[in-house]
Amino acid sequence: MPLPKHVKIVEVGPRDGLQNEKTPVSTDVKLHFIDLLGEAGLSVIEAAAFVSPKWVPQMADHAEIMRGLKRRPGVRYPALVPNLKGYEAARAVGVDEIAVFAAASEAFSQKNINCSIEESLARFAPVVEAARADGVAVRGYVSCVLGCPYQGEVPLSDVARVSDALFEMGCYEVSLGDTIGVGTPEKARRMIEAVATKIPVEKLAAHFHDTWGQALANLYAVLELGVATIDSSAAGLGGCPYARGATGNVATEDVVYMLQGLGIETGIDLDKLAAAGRYINSHLGRAPASKVAAALAARDAA
Ligand code: HMG
Ligand code: MG
Repeated sequence: MPLPKHVKIVEVGPRDGLQNEKTPVSTDVKLHFIDLLGEAGLSVIEAAAFVSPKWVPQMADHAEIMRGLKRRPGVRYPALVPNLKGYEAARAVGVDEIAVFAAASEAFSQKNINCSIEESLARFAPVVEAARADGVAVRGYVSCVLGCPYQGEVPLSDVARVSDALFEMGCYEVSLGDTIGVGTPEKARRMIEAVATKIPVEKLAAHFHDTWGQALANLYAVLELGVATIDSSAAGLGGCPYARGATGNVATEDVVYMLQGLGIETGIDLDKLAAAGRYINSHLGRAPASKVAAALAARDAA
């Protein structure tokens, strides 16, 4: 299949990126980071998670974030929601798009959301129903699609089954998470092929973490199958609090540079994106995990 002409990037830095950070990041800094991402041309920015602050303290200011957003025309600001309580809290502050999150691995589901896969799906059903009644779009995530930190191998049939359940429930798109970044290109390709037997490939997103340095190669492999939505974090921020050792999402800068080189349109200004990454890193006191961001900084310093 020819590579897609346009790829939608879902920027997950403010949520997936920051959720694992021990250093508290102020609400104002998060809001400015989100604004810089919008300025760079990101059209979908996952802004917050309405999860329990006891479980994920960094996301405790979700309501202030959603209230404080300077919404740009044409930009969507979804939030992660684990249950009806989170949904109601999100709606109270104007969230108009949500994401629910299940796992393909039973062990990970227990650690991440304290319930089985089946219980999680039963918990999401009324959330999706309420959202649809309210005209709120719902995205579905499936974690551990290429391996689990607790269970190891995850059967492709489980990935396809959980993805299908979310899609059938009413999720408009299913994002497939290599939560611990262990996948390799052939495995990623087989996983997409398995899920695409149930869900049209244009409804799938690749959400790859770069822990083992394979994310770009894996993305290229699935672009060849027609996947045209990619989740990434500016500066390669991130990790999951319930996946020890999992590093960040693939860096948005690296993805955009690769896509530009392939002649694929994203609508993103790479220099402005790198500036957003530098901004958040300056508050975290660290260098970017993105090679492209480091190369741009070296070019600009020369
Ligand atoms: P629980 O403890 O099983 O829930 O947590 P509970 O219903 O028994 O409630 C316990 C307490 O939590 C109660 O408060 C509830 O009110 C409160 P208490 O009476 O003890 O004071 N509570 C909430 N508070 C705020 N917001 C809520 C909420 N719900 C209950 N929505 C729960 C269940 C799901 C809430 C919990 O396990 C949780 O928040 N987990 C966090 C999971 C998380 O954020 N993980 C990281 C994101 S997923 C990810 O990163 C993967 C992804 O990126 C894709 C990939 O890479 O694979 C998406
Ligand atoms: Mg993730």
